[in-house]
Amino acid sequence: MTLASTGRIYLDNAATTALDPEVLEAMLPHLRDHFGNPSSLYSYGREARLALETARKTVASLLRVRPSTLVFTSGGTESDNMAIAVALRDLGCTHILYPPTEHHAVLHPVEYYGKCQTVTSSLLQLGPEGVVNLGDLANQLSTQQALGRKCLVCIMHANNETGVMADLPAIGKIARAYDAVFFSDCVQTIGHYPLALGSLPVDLASASGHKFHGPRGTGLLYIREGLNAGPLLHGGGQERNLRSGTENVAAVVGFAKALEIAMRDYDRDSPRIRHLRFHLYREISQLASETRINGDLIRGLYTVLNLSFPKTERTADILLHLDQQSICVSGGSACSAGTGSHVMKALGRSDEVAVRFSFSKWNTSEDIDRAVSVIRQKLDLRNGDLGAVR
Ligand SMILES: Cc1ncc(COP(=O)(O)O)c(C=O)c1O
Repeated sequence: MTLASTGRIYLDNAATTALDPEVLEAMLPHLRDHFGNPSSLYSYGREARLALETARKTVASLLRVRPSTLVFTSGGTESDNMAIAVALRDLGCTHILYPPTEHHAVLHPVEYYGKCQTVTSSLLQLGPEGVVNLGDLANQLSTQQALGRKCLVCIMHANNETGVMADLPAIGKIARAYDAVFFSDCVQTIGHYPLALGSLPVDLASASGHKFHGPRGTGLLYIREGLNAGPLLHGGGQERNLRSGTENVAAVVGFAKALEIAMRDYDRDSPRIRHLRFHLYREISQLASETRINGDLIRGLYTVLNLSFPKTERTADILLHLDQQSICVSGGSACSAGTGSHVMKALGRSDEVAVRFSFSKWNTSEDIDRAVSVIRQKLDLRNGDLGAVR
């Protein structure tokens, strides 16, 4: 399958990815023929239940966890909300520690629960490029522990705007030393790396199917074994009473298939994608010497490249120009489009023009060359110096 047939170049894969035709094939029988309710006891129901539990086992074996630790949800947003609700309501947390660069699906629930008298929260300090300062994390955990408060630590695995990655083993170790609960939003990494969740010191983790060529509206929450969690959605008791509502069997089958494909092809696809990212960085930084990377070229998420240009007459409307030339990129997360990026603000870079390029297995070097040529044309660079056009 090639997106090139549409004439558009899609470089916004951190927002969403195109559905893999193999995933669609796997889903179709469950949309068309196997329409049973997994809770029904007769044959239609049993078929649907089998598909659901087989998908759960597939995902569990890929993430190296037990099937009983996984709850299928409607996406990353629901999983993030549920993780925070579970930690506060069922696991005894009363203080939340989080960096200002989390996704809104974490920031807004934290803000919401912060309105309750019993829950407090504080921001974690950021180091260079937005990596969480682990010394500050330990200090704040120690202070809260002395006050008799159990903490929930929310730190995303990879930032969806900059691709900056968190050191989950190091954070988890610190969290455990202070008896805190550690939740990591892994929406940008599950499906992009072979993650053995079961051997990481993480208590709760979220994923979203549409970030790795699965269907939109499907997600996952991992709840470490032994944690006594309750539901966010109450009703018929599906998902072992953790999420009521008739299961979206086709979507769950699609999620599992997409993860299976992503892990099956990881060794083939990830070096290609890394190469495209380096190629784009090299080309653009040669083109405009004042370009800077928001994130980390070497250690950052290999599917995201966020570049800042100084704001000039030529760069100010670069996103619009790329769109007019059929190149789909964004200025930050899709959710913050139009309102300015809270991540760039937290990094002190809101006065620059940030462009997030994000890649998938279906991008080609021709896509990159075309994007570079459109940017070159837009900046009208003759001497490689953006300052000259200010
Ligand atoms: C890091 C992160 N968390 C959560 C979400 C929300 O996921 P969903 O779109 O599946 O609700 C996104 C989506 O952009 C994301 O990038």
